Amino acid sequence: MKRDLLKYISLVYLVVIILAAQCVQSFTFLRSYLRLTRTNQPRSPTDRPRSETDVFDFHLPSLHSHRIYDTPAIYDMNFIIRDFEEEALFLTEIYGDHAQNQDSSMKIKVLEFGSGPGRHITTGYGLNILKPGSIGIDSNPKMVEYAKMRSETNTFDVGDMCDYDGKNTFDACWVLLNTLAHATSLDGFLESVSKSLRPGGVCVVEMFSSEDVERFKDGTAEPEDWIVEFDGEEYTSLTKTEELEGHKIQEDDVVTLSSSYGPARPDAYDSKTSMLDIDLEVKVVVNDKRGDVKVDKVFGEGAGKMRVVEVEELAKGCEEYGMELVRDANEGLGGWRELSWENVEEEVGEDLEGIEGEGEGGGEVEGKGEEEGEEQVNDDRWICVLRKII
Ligand SMILES: C[S@@+](CC[C@H](N)C(=O)[O-])C[C@H]1O[C@@H](n2cnc3c(N)ncnc32)[C@H](O)[C@@H]1O
Repeated sequence: MKRDLLKYISLVYLVVIILAAQCVQSFTFLRSYLRLTRTNQPRSPTDRPRSETDVFDFHLPSLHSHRIYDTPAIYDMNFIIRDFEEEALFLTEIYGDHAQNQDSSMKIKVLEFGSGPGRHITTGYGLNILKPGSIGIDSNPKMVEYAKMRSETNTFDVGDMCDYDGKNTFDACWVLLNTLAHATSLDGFLESVSKSLRPGGVCVVEMFSSEDVERFKDGTAEPEDWIVEFDGEEYTSLTKTEELEGHKIQEDDVVTLSSSYGPARPDAYDSKTSMLDIDLEVKVVVNDKRGDVKVDKVFGEGAGKMRVVEVEELAKGCEEYGMELVRDANEGLGGWRELSWENVEEEVGEDLEGIEGEGEGGGEVEGKGEEEGEEQVNDDRWICVLRKII
């Protein structure tokens, strides 16, 4: 009897142990299964599952820390030395050369990724080369607010070029002035472009030239310097921003922007990660009519990191998203010019009427041209064109 009881207790003990072991096993399995499914779900563009071609395999929070983009008026004045009319016309020429199934309207519906102050889009509308519905998106709400204020339109919206599905399709996408170097996922970017283009439509990407990339690699790239000067009236008519650092800009003030942009150090480029430390420093000095200094401040210093994308990566990546690389060349997109707003008005004439903020005033640019009015073709900007396969 006593032996039977002992046997019975040992049996119950054994059953309890087996059941406990099974519980632990299922719990562990359940936990690892949950973890697995959770990590398989993309949470943000940087977390999305990566294909072989997605080389952006690490998190790049610093890409969004370019402080110059938080002061859009300063960014805008700093880069206004470009010839936006010529650039917009060149962009439509590229469309004419490469897009398939073009209609007879000679106008295109454009989506610009990283549109910043929005000058290409507003200039395009002003030149009557864009179809209604052309828009610009930018991840920085301050840039979007500034672009809307400057153009007095709702043509601009907040959006991420690496995770964009605006549900509309466009004839062309524009990605200008190395904006691609801010992408946190090449896959995400290519998917956004592919979703946004109509079949036969093209995406124009302006990126670092192959010569630049070589110079980054061997440490010989140097920052570029330039100076832009406006009188108070020109400044406010272009930016529509009367206040600068709490100081009201008066008509006879002189606003001078001295800029330097380029690799932070000779070893600023990391070949393993293709990351480049860039410095952009814009010093703004405002003098009143007596010459007294009202503002003297550096903006956007220590501009942050950029991911240098090379053309081979782009070509390989776009195949996966139903696109093909149809053009890649070092060629001028417009160019810097010894800019005088009077000259621009004269050349483009009535086309400029009705464009808010374009062609007014008379900004002076030093250090980018040879002589007054002379146009300098910028041949160190690399243009790639991706076409959506029909
Ligand atoms: C070099 S600026 C170019 C602005 C304008 N396209 C031009 O040509 O002057 C780059 C712009 O891209 C924006 N940007 C950065 N990352 C972005 C992203 N993931 N999606 C959309 N815009 C982004 C920045 O806020 C900035 O306005």
